Amino acid sequence: MAKERVLTGITTSGTPHLGNYVGAIRPAIAASHQGSSDTFFFLADYHALIKCQDPALVRQSSKEIAATWLALGLDPEEAVFYRQSDIPEITELSWVLSCNAAKGLMNRAHAYKAAVQVNQESDNDPDYAVNMGLFSYPVLMAADILMFNATNIPVGKDQIQHVEMARDIAQRFNHNFADVFTLPEAVVGEDAAVLLGLDGRKMSKSYKNTIPLFESEKKLRKSINKIKTNLLEPGEAKDPDDSTVFQLWSAFASPAETQRMRDDFLDGIAWGEAKKQLFELINGELSEARLRYQALMDDPAYIEGVLQAGAEKARAYSVPLMDKVREAVGISAIS
Ligand code: TRP
Repeated sequence: MAKERVLTGITTSGTPHLGNYVGAIRPAIAASHQGSSDTFFFLADYHALIKCQDPALVRQSSKEIAATWLALGLDPEEAVFYRQSDIPEITELSWVLSCNAAKGLMNRAHAYKAAVQVNQESDNDPDYAVNMGLFSYPVLMAADILMFNATNIPVGKDQIQHVEMARDIAQRFNHNFADVFTLPEAVVGEDAAVLLGLDGRKMSKSYKNTIPLFESEKKLRKSINKIKTNLLEPGEAKDPDDSTVFQLWSAFASPAETQRMRDDFLDGIAWGEAKKQLFELINGELSEARLRYQALMDDPAYIEGVLQAGAEKARAYSVPLMDKVREAVGISAIS
């Protein structure tokens, strides 16, 4: 049986935070060490342009995200680790797929529909501030996935629809031309808890409530102290299931330690004490990686070298695949 091929992309439009780590980075790197599948991880920098027109931010985010994955133990020998924009075949494929993707299908994409809805609610033109990148974003994502014949796509719930669209587009292409593409499937980790942020809503850069993964120890302590709690006094029982502090705790602690903290909540642990323990737990898990991260951020040439080597590995797949695609649709040497 063919080995599973796991592929996922990370949009380079922000600083990685604890939610990204728990939900995506930590499980992906763990899977890459298992060796039971081939793994492809990439910086989705062309995706960043859809939402972010700030060149400095895109540049900085690409560097931070690459350094983050490497600091957390991604082994570029084991996984294929590359930058989307280094693989020109991806944007080429994106065009061919555009010509095989129904516009009606794209009309139904959540990201686009959400933007239209915001406009309608604020009495704007439905297409106000909607660029073609946002509209065709699922096609570019399909190209990312289909280019490498990926089988398993670990994503958050919000991305399942996009993977299904990639599958749809692949089926249509295979049917119309030649059997070129493998049909991918979304994999949503059941323990991929959505972490809550400082204000108790989902941790997300759009809510500005994140805890950056590698902020300094001092800042991490400050952030944790800012997590919203209620006014219950020490000694008063607290509800662990309605607490961001407890939720974060359980994302980092062992089952036994989670149970212990649950009991402490019911016994009325003080918020200050719970937060102090939470800081120590998270800092303990991250402090060594933080040092590696800082060293990597000071050595951009090393990061660039890793990405270049990754691009070479990735192009060993993408160049022949794009040849097949061109051939299938009738773009080839005159003969
Ligand atoms: N769109 C994804 C996100 O915002 C990132 C992404 C781009 C991706 N291309 C991909 C994820 C291909 C998986 C596969 O999270």
